[in-house]
Amino acid sequence: MVTEDDIINQYGKRYTKGQYIFREGDHGEEMFIIHTGKVNITKRTDEGEKILVTLGPGDFFGEMAVIDKGPRSASAIAAEDTVCIVLDEDLFEQQMQRNAKIVKKILKNMSARLRAMNEQLQNLTTKDYNMRVVNALLIHVNKNGDNSPLPLQTLIEQTGMEDYKDKLHEILSSMEKAKVVTISGDTIIVSSSANIEKYKHYLEMKKVFGES
Ligand code: CMP
Repeated sequence: MVTEDDIINQYGKRYTKGQYIFREGDHGEEMFIIHTGKVNITKRTDEGEKILVTLGPGDFFGEMAVIDKGPRSASAIAAEDTVCIVLDEDLFEQQMQRNAKIVKKILKNMSARLRAMNEQLQNLTTKDYNMRVVNALLIHVNKNGDNSPLPLQTLIEQTGMEDYKDKLHEILSSMEKAKVVTISGDTIIVSSSANIEKYKHYLEMKKVFGES
C-alpha cells in the first residue's frame, strides 16, 4: 500500500521561508499541493509586489499554467518553511483523466477564486472606507476562522488603503474599542465572523439613521 510518507518521499519538495517556488511570467509545467506550511501568491503592481492570497495545507496552486500552457499568472513564495507535493504535467493530466473528483475540486476552487475576486473588486470600488475594512475582515475570518491573525500590511493591500493609513488606524481603533478586533503590534486578530457581521450591521444602521 502506498503511504503518505511514500508520496512525500517521491513527490515532496521543501522550500524555506521566503524562497520563490516560481515567479510570475515563468514557463510552468508543474502544479503544487501544499502538504505543510504556507505559500503567498503574489503579483507585481506599480506599487510593488502584492499578496493576492495566502494558501495553507491542502490548498493547491500552479494549475493554471499547466492547464492553459500560458506563463505563470503570479509568483508563489514560501511564507514559512513549506513542503509541497509537486505534480508534473503528465501526472497531473493522468490524475485529471482518472479522477472526476479532482476535476470537480479544481473547478470548485477556481469558482471560489473568481467569486473572491469579484467581491474584492466590488469592495475596492466603494468609497466607504469603513465598509472596505469590514468586508476585508469578513472575507479573512470566513476563510481562516475565528480569532485568526491578519498582518496589517495584508489588510492595507486588500483594502487599497496605502495612501489612507491614518484613516485605517482610526477605523481599526474604533473596532478595537467595540471589541471586534484586537491589535497586537502589526497583527490584527479578528474575533469572529458573527461579531464582524454585527459591526457591519451597526455601520449600515448608522448610515441610515445618522450619527446621533
Ligand atoms: P499559475 O498561473 O500556474 O501560477 C500562479 C498561480 O497562482 C496560478 O497558477 C494559480 O494557481 C494561483 N493564483 C493566481 N491568481 C490567483 C488568485 N487571484 N487567487 C488565488 N490563487 C491564484
